[in-house]
Amino acid sequence: MAILRAEHLEKAFGAAAGSTSGVMAIRGVDVEIEPGQFVAITGASGSGKSTLLHLLGGITRPTAGRVLLEGVDLAALGDDDLAVVRRRRIGFVFQRYNLLPELSLVENVGLPLVLDGIPTHRCDTAARAALETVGMGHRAEHRPDALSGGEQQRGAIARALVTSPAIVLADEPTGALDSENSRRVVELLRSLVTDHGQTVVLVTHDPSIAAAAGRCIRMADGRIVSDTLQPGSPLGGGRPPVPRQAPGSSGGGRRAGRKRR
Ligand SMILES: Nc1ncnc2c1ncn2[C@@H]1O[C@H](COP(=O)(O)OP(=O)(O)OP(=O)(O)O)[C@@H](O)[C@H]1O
Ligand SMILES: [Mg+2]
Repeated sequence: MAILRAEHLEKAFGAAAGSTSGVMAIRGVDVEIEPGQFVAITGASGSGKSTLLHLLGGITRPTAGRVLLEGVDLAALGDDDLAVVRRRRIGFVFQRYNLLPELSLVENVGLPLVLDGIPTHRCDTAARAALETVGMGHRAEHRPDALSGGEQQRGAIARALVTSPAIVLADEPTGALDSENSRRVVELLRSLVTDHGQTVVLVTHDPSIAAAAGRCIRMADGRIVSDTLQPGSPLGGGRPPVPRQAPGSSGGGRRAGRKRR
């Protein structure tokens, strides 16, 4: 079963349904993400990458269509239940880290567990373990403003990992980083898939980062315009999707997922 599945997904901003004055950010997306895939989403600015990631992660609700996470229809959940599913099953990494400035790094990382009512000492232990995973154990007591961009992003990834989520969604996590820190962040995300069996969906502008993924989805104007697996990559998921040639596809890889129209 797909870990994430979008069906006929649409998202309009700024207009009542049926009006032509709003922005159609997502225009009918069908996609399935398989467990153990490392997926890159690319496309020009404004093509709908962030909007799609937010819809997949239950951060925003679609205006049409639906998202199933591990078979559960997110639309069927009320706001409180959705928040719980999001916190426990999904780790979200933002371009600008979104760490709370008044908390130390270890407190930031432990926050999803605190919000879940886990006893403080267990939150602290788990947060320190997550910081060790990203090589930031020695900076646990520091506030975010005392850390470099790369260090803050590794802390933000630790926060996304602390609940051991099934899926990590990252929106241009290297956008504000230099090439060495970008490389470390991508390596870290890759290791979630190879070492921990998690599923990662990463939005990026950088072709070299997209090339490191096992599957690359390209968007244009709110639609998926190509979807390819890297042949032979261990990051393409445990179960190979059914190969299918896209009409007009330029080739270069196998067709990924079972897109429907
Ligand atoms: N909250 C919003 N209100 C109105 N329009 C929005 C909103 N969020 C996104 N949009 C519009 O939806 C379209 C897709 O935006 P989105 O942020 O998903 O693009 P993107 O591919 O992530 O771009 P970038 O690479 O610049 O981050 C754009 O035209 C954008 O202006
Ligand atoms: Mg974006």
